[in-house]
Amino acid sequence: MISLTPRPMRLLEAYADGEAARHFTFAIEPRGDQSLVAPGQFFMLTVPGVGEAAFTYVSQPDAAGRFSALIRQTGTLTAALFALAPGAVLGYRGPFGRGWPSPGFGERLLLVAGGCGLAPLAGLIDGAAGDVQLIYAARSRAYQVLARERTRWRQRLTLIETLDQDDDGVEQGNPLDALQLALTSDTAPARVFCCGPEALMLAVARRCVDHHLPASRVWLSLERRMHCGVGLCGHCYIGSSYACVDGPTYRYDEYLRLLAASGQVAAGCLPPQPC
Ligand SMILES: Cc1cc2nc3c(=O)[nH]c(=O)nc-3n(C[C@H](O)[C@H](O)[C@H](O)COP(=O)(O)OP(=O)(O)OC[C@H]3O[C@@H](n4cnc5c(N)ncnc54)[C@H](O)[C@@H]3O)c2cc1C
Ligand code: FES
Repeated sequence: MISLTPRPMRLLEAYADGEAARHFTFAIEPRGDQSLVAPGQFFMLTVPGVGEAAFTYVSQPDAAGRFSALIRQTGTLTAALFALAPGAVLGYRGPFGRGWPSPGFGERLLLVAGGCGLAPLAGLIDGAAGDVQLIYAARSRAYQVLARERTRWRQRLTLIETLDQDDDGVEQGNPLDALQLALTSDTAPARVFCCGPEALMLAVARRCVDHHLPASRVWLSLERRMHCGVGLCGHCYIGSSYACVDGPTYRYDEYLRLLAASGQVAAGCLPPQPC
């Protein structure tokens, strides 16, 4: 049965992690089903008296029900969340949606993230056993998120970081150039997973296909405004699909088919993302 009633969730701690962003640790009452949360899924967070919004897991709930999320302050709900102190009681519904597919054993993965889009890839990176390369693009050093995780990841994977501008306003690399190098190297990836501003994801997907990686081997995480989170309200549709149930991760070929079947505009015209 679908439950729309939030469970209690406690705010344990939060620290600054990127411009206007904080890394939150929350705790929910353990129910024994926490291991069912897959990287790339999302949950609905309620701030009592303010509202509810979707956020992705950076780490999935552990046996004690503790998990983390990276949240950027954009509007009313996140402003109210940022004003709360540890111990505050919030609401939780989830997990929702379809996470990333599990990597095959030893499979060579290329992950491309932009801005806060690094958050949904964190669980995948931490769980991957094979060869992982990560390209992380941000507006500037101040906007980079998940600083502690990136320090840890540098020890065991290839991490390429690009900045639209460094502290002196000078461009520092370009994620599409880094992608081009990765796709044409001797160690070209078997699959590409991408999350970030929609324009970046679509440019990445097109570049992969141009370099003969089939569209069925490229995955994107698409954000739509979520209300119910469970396929009831119709706010989050992409063609005939509800992003809250069938997404937010989509294979690029599936996504193109959905757009074509619904007669929707070319993907590059879709709305911008908040972070
Ligand atoms: C599946 C999913 C996972 C998400 N994960 C995260 C996360 O891990 N961290 C994080 O910081 N944010 C995440 N978001 C975005 C977050 O849900 C919104 O930013 C949320 O609305 C913030 O609430 P607010 O009241 O503070 O801002 P609002 O007042 O709701 O929004 C502020 C601005 O952002 C725009 N906006 C809000 N949500 C969206 C959206 N989904 N698509 C396009 N524009 C939007 C609004 O139109 C407005 O201009 C996720 C969204 C989805 C759908
Ligand atoms: S958010 Fe209600 S149908 Fe997807």
